[in-house]
Amino acid sequence: MKIGVLTGGGDCPGLNPALRGLVYRATGRGHQVIGFLDGWKGLLDGRHRPLERADLLEAMGQGGTLLGSSRTNPFKEEEGASRLLATLSRLQIDALVAMGGDDTLSAARELHRRGGRVVGVPKTMDNDLRGTDWTFGFDSASSVSMEALERLRDTARSHHRVIVLEVMGRHAGWVALATGLGGGADYTILPEEPFDAERLCAAARRAVDARGYALVVASEGAEVAAGLKGTSGAKDDFGHELLKDRGVGASLASLLERRLGVEARSAVIGHVQRGGPPTLFDRILSVRLGAKAADLIEEGKFGEVAVLRGEQIGSLPLEEAVSSPRVVDPPWLDLLHTFDA
Ligand code: F6P
Repeated sequence: MKIGVLTGGGDCPGLNPALRGLVYRATGRGHQVIGFLDGWKGLLDGRHRPLERADLLEAMGQGGTLLGSSRTNPFKEEEGASRLLATLSRLQIDALVAMGGDDTLSAARELHRRGGRVVGVPKTMDNDLRGTDWTFGFDSASSVSMEALERLRDTARSHHRVIVLEVMGRHAGWVALATGLGGGADYTILPEEPFDAERLCAAARRAVDARGYALVVASEGAEVAAGLKGTSGAKDDFGHELLKDRGVGASLASLLERRLGVEARSAVIGHVQRGGPPTLFDRILSVRLGAKAADLIEEGKFGEVAVLRGEQIGSLPLEEAVSSPRVVDPPWLDLLHTFDA
């Protein structure tokens, strides 16, 4: 068989290991793999390259994606579906693997509905896909932000300051949760909960009184004030609001400085979270999911996505994975707030 693959949406560590898993499993069984460049854009335009084992010798430790990525939504244009199907047929691709988050996998589901033979591999640092215990990229990104928090702790302690670390995650608070829990923040703010300025200030006050500084983690998508600075309403191809300039961290730092009378700063680490080598957890998860994608194709399970359930790699319909975002649930919130009460 001739298998096509693309990586779409925001890049994250684990994509190259997932490609390695796919290519080694597929070529080991006599199939050929070609990669489309820059996500759906490359498939629309017919830009591709062969993918062989030699391309993936060092993939396990490499962040980003060697195929490139984009946030192109192929169904935004009327001709999109027919252009995708035309490329697949012209290149005689028997099956396509789409590696991505909710947007990329929604497009994969759409293509499958229109007759495309597609399977999915779930990736996103946001960890907000349904049906899989964890998505790869999340552990790596959260480990980076946890380390950033540790570094901020040193300077907060030295200067007796309050420091707010703003992390990515869009409208799911998984990265903030993991950063706050893993890094021992004094307070963590997630988009899943109504913002409570009183609780925040009380927790920060307690920390300052106890040891002279406080650390707060906030998710970029949290609603911490009306009309946040920088909220532009600009949207990407899939209709998501761009959150990068909302200024959540800065707005919280100024609130805390005003209310506590303690010097406060904020740090936004942005795309630093998405770069660098994958953690061991993400390497193993992604290489397993990539190999599973080749299995799904051999089994003819089109319209399915490879998932992690407990310790097993399985699959479920793309429909289910993209039905609604998976957000942080009450037991996690309960655990988180055990440490700020
Ligand atoms: O979806 C992954 C993510 O990193 C989000 O956490 C963040 O809001 C967004 O991508 C940033 O997108 P971009 O890289 O296009 O600015």
